[in-house]
Amino acid sequence: MTRFSHPTGRCAGGHGLRPGRSTIHRAPHTPVVFTAAVKEFYESHLCPVVNAKIMRSVLTIMLITFLIVPVTLSVEDDTMATLPVIPRPAFLQVNKDTFELGDHISIRYSSPDLRFEAEYLKDYLQRMYHLAPRLEESDKPPASGILLSLSTIPDRPAEGYSLHADNNGIAIIGDRPGVFYGIQTLMQILPADDQKGLKIPSVDITDYPRFPWRGMHLDVCRHFFPAEFVKRYISLLAMYKMNTFHWHLTEDQGWRIEIKKYPRLTRVGAYRNGSMIGPYSAQKFDSVRYGGFYTQDEIREVVAYAAKLHVTIVPEIEMPGHCLAALASYPELSCTGGPFEVGKAWGVYDDVYCTKDETFDFLQNVLSEVCDLFPGKYIHIGGDEVPKVRWKNCPRCQATMRREHLKDENELESYFVRRIEKFLNSRGKQIIGWDEILEGGLAPNAAVMSWRGTEGGISAAKMKHHVIMTPGGYCYFDYYQGNPQSEPLAMGSYTPVEKVYSYEPVPAELQPDEEQYILGAQGNVWTEYIPTPEQVEYMALPRMAALAEVDWTPKDERSYADFRDRLLHHFTLLDRLGFHYSKAIFDLSMSVMRARNNPGIEVALSSVIDSSGIRYTIDGSEPAESSFPYHGPIPVSGNLTLKCAFIRDHRRIGNVLTQHFVVSKSTGRNITLKNQPHENYPASGAFTLVDGIRGDTTRFARDWLGFWGPDLDATIDLGSPTGFSTVTMDFFDAPESWIYLPRSVQVFVSDDSLKWSSVKKIGGEDLRNLNRVVSLSLGRQTARYVRVVAENAGKIPVGSPGEGNAAWLFVDEIIIE
Ligand code: ACM
Ligand code: ZN
Repeated sequence: MTRFSHPTGRCAGGHGLRPGRSTIHRAPHTPVVFTAAVKEFYESHLCPVVNAKIMRSVLTIMLITFLIVPVTLSVEDDTMATLPVIPRPAFLQVNKDTFELGDHISIRYSSPDLRFEAEYLKDYLQRMYHLAPRLEESDKPPASGILLSLSTIPDRPAEGYSLHADNNGIAIIGDRPGVFYGIQTLMQILPADDQKGLKIPSVDITDYPRFPWRGMHLDVCRHFFPAEFVKRYISLLAMYKMNTFHWHLTEDQGWRIEIKKYPRLTRVGAYRNGSMIGPYSAQKFDSVRYGGFYTQDEIREVVAYAAKLHVTIVPEIEMPGHCLAALASYPELSCTGGPFEVGKAWGVYDDVYCTKDETFDFLQNVLSEVCDLFPGKYIHIGGDEVPKVRWKNCPRCQATMRREHLKDENELESYFVRRIEKFLNSRGKQIIGWDEILEGGLAPNAAVMSWRGTEGGISAAKMKHHVIMTPGGYCYFDYYQGNPQSEPLAMGSYTPVEKVYSYEPVPAELQPDEEQYILGAQGNVWTEYIPTPEQVEYMALPRMAALAEVDWTPKDERSYADFRDRLLHHFTLLDRLGFHYSKAIFDLSMSVMRARNNPGIEVALSSVIDSSGIRYTIDGSEPAESSFPYHGPIPVSGNLTLKCAFIRDHRRIGNVLTQHFVVSKSTGRNITLKNQPHENYPASGAFTLVDGIRGDTTRFARDWLGFWGPDLDATIDLGSPTGFSTVTMDFFDAPESWIYLPRSVQVFVSDDSLKWSSVKKIGGEDLRNLNRVVSLSLGRQTARYVRVVAENAGKIPVGSPGEGNAAWLFVDEIIIE
């Protein structure tokens, strides 16, 4: 069995490099704009003479301080920025009056179909504000209170609602989900604190979702989370108007759903005899028996709970790979017969279901029980990361290929998926698979979940198949969201909330008539490095709030600065509700850019609190109040170590950000790339290679450009003919993670960027001996342009993790001296 990880795959960064990064975003530099709400937050809670006792763990406390301050609502015409609703409504207008909720109010609902919604709102008002509104079934507005009304307006968008509040009361009108979402909006408008009365401004809201699929996923296999927590997670989806919960129920490391016909699936398959500890590269394990599963009764309870919250559950039963727990329970379903044990390591295993008839009998029986438990239209059948090595060596699988006239194992996988699709279609269900199901031919009615990037989604939409966009670079919430030095161990890549917010689910490559196939976007929470419910919440929040807005709000109404202001209010609400979330948006951030006047670079620092609190040093000492105050971009013209922090009243808020800079003749110069890096490892594009920051293994995702297949082909313009004699580059070497040294490195020089001469080429053993820092002596050279070509290693050799796939090439800083 191989257990591997690769930068696109489940173990991306489980390669244990902890390929995190920090909150450094590099050129091009966008100045941070401090919006009114952030300034207000800062000024009211930090500027006044700060009580030293309160300011102990300053940033956290700051946020808590914020909690007890009423949400300020600017009651003016036409302002929507200050109403802290996430996702931002399609249309919202704030008017002059206010309505005060008190003990006298009633909640009226126009139809018994809204009874649950009415009780839900009543329960919230009781729990949060100690109000006890009367519930009445009536379609007349109450004398004072809230009317919930089912709408029959035919062309109102599904799941839409309108909310009107004035000094007489509140009315929410929509279809059932719409009324529920109107209630969510109302709950977010209510002040987080009712000390001064529970007033809400007079508003008119008309709202509806942009996409029908607004999803969140949870892997309950790598780590198991009890049914009670799953319900809590679903309640969080509902709060952000998300309507689809993708429940990843079976894996190599555990089978989590009771199947009556196959009791060993949970008796054996739900438990492993140890788990991976720490980063993937450490290859350390404990020997603690770990596991758990959901009984069918529990599943029915969760499904019913979700339905009330207008959340549909899409169960995932993985096949033909990621099934080691099933094979450990029933080894006869494999190609080799086993024996197997439930996976302890993360990654991908070679043992997959054999394609013999007995496997299909088994899976159909399993899926029959799954269909009975989950009323939704979709069943997710996995389909990702299926090594073909067992099938290649299995007489039964080879016989299936001959019988079905399949030309290779990709077509065998396609045959597998089609056969399962046919069965599920006969049960009235549609299948969804990860984008690998496109390889070898897409099953006729399958929907595709695009995770390895957007290409799979684009191809499927062009073939008129439905698509859910969940590309790793934007939608994988197991990646770091803040400085890895101050975050819990995570899968290595960097997806801060701002990046999630920037995501556009409809790829530009689609024609207008193809756009309809994009059902929406989904956030995925894989749990290799997420052992507890608290950490699930922490990794999901606030990124899922950002994605909720991507999925719901009209594209033109989205603004990150505005979202961030509303998010501050949401932190208050999340605290009151007891949810865990990351405050990484308060970390200092750093942008490196080309120096405007001199050669070299300059470094801009910012804080969402107030940049005037930033202090820095360049001599390696810890920043203090007496250190340099930050007034604008810091020029870096020679090697130095920059340390910066937010300091106020002799106290540091948040972490010290430390960065070493190495300045050479290439630093800050114009650089172009012939091939672009993979979207999961773009760092700051070509500039990453000349920004003075050398990639290190603990900040893997930030400092390295990752190319999956293509060569590095970079041209640097030194500005004028320049003398030099060495070129030094950093490459990464981690074959267990599919990352290989280049096959060769070649340096060319030119005076006009048209005629090039090769000055050095190195490859084979010579290159391997240099290991990851390739420093080439070139003799004395004078040239304006330097071109470096590092040839990708090509296909991963047989017998190595990821065999047959393209190798990754990771490269950083090109230093010319
Ligand atoms: C996946 O992340 N392997 C779908
Ligand atoms: Zn087989």
